[in-house]
Amino acid sequence: MTSPTPLRFAILTISDRSARGEREDRSGPALAEAVRARGWQVAHTEILPDDLPTLRDTLARWADSDAYDVILTTGGTGFAPRDVTPEATAAVIERPAPGLAEAMRAASLHITPHAMLSRAVAGIRGTTLIVNLPGSPKAAVENLEVIAPVLPHAVSLLHDDPAAEKGHRL
Ligand code: MTE
Repeated sequence: MTSPTPLRFAILTISDRSARGEREDRSGPALAEAVRARGWQVAHTEILPDDLPTLRDTLARWADSDAYDVILTTGGTGFAPRDVTPEATAAVIERPAPGLAEAMRAASLHITPHAMLSRAVAGIRGTTLIVNLPGSPKAAVENLEVIAPVLPHAVSLLHDDPAAEKGHRL
């Protein structure tokens, strides 16, 4: 049996200050490290400001490129006026995947009550899964670790892979 191709990830850091170069992006690299640690591929990383049209167009373009199985965003999911990541994501997904966001919030509530302040959403556009993660490096990685065990099966299902049946048992 050939080994399965590694999942392909794009990581989008969403932060006005990091996009302006005023603050080092630590969340994108922390997520990239966590992705690679699982043997998956970081195919692309980028930093963008908290601008709704830019985020919406970028997420749609990346998903439609079919170059990535999973797009992870980090940042912009809270209550601040410029936090528009969930709105940009909701505008481009074709099918919501609320279970992923529910699981991340439920698990994160054991770590901090501030998990309630994450408005993160997850959903599917074409065969690409888009998942919002919080902005701090610690929070982003903690949330990714919650959903990581189901991502290979999720991606198999998106491609209607008959072998995905096997993945129903974790
Ligand atoms: N989830 C985990 N696991 N750990 C955390 O430290 N921080 C929370 C929350 N989720 C946190 C977390 C905080 S403080 C906020 S405000 C929200 O995510 C939204 O974060 P964001 O605005 O940086 O996207």
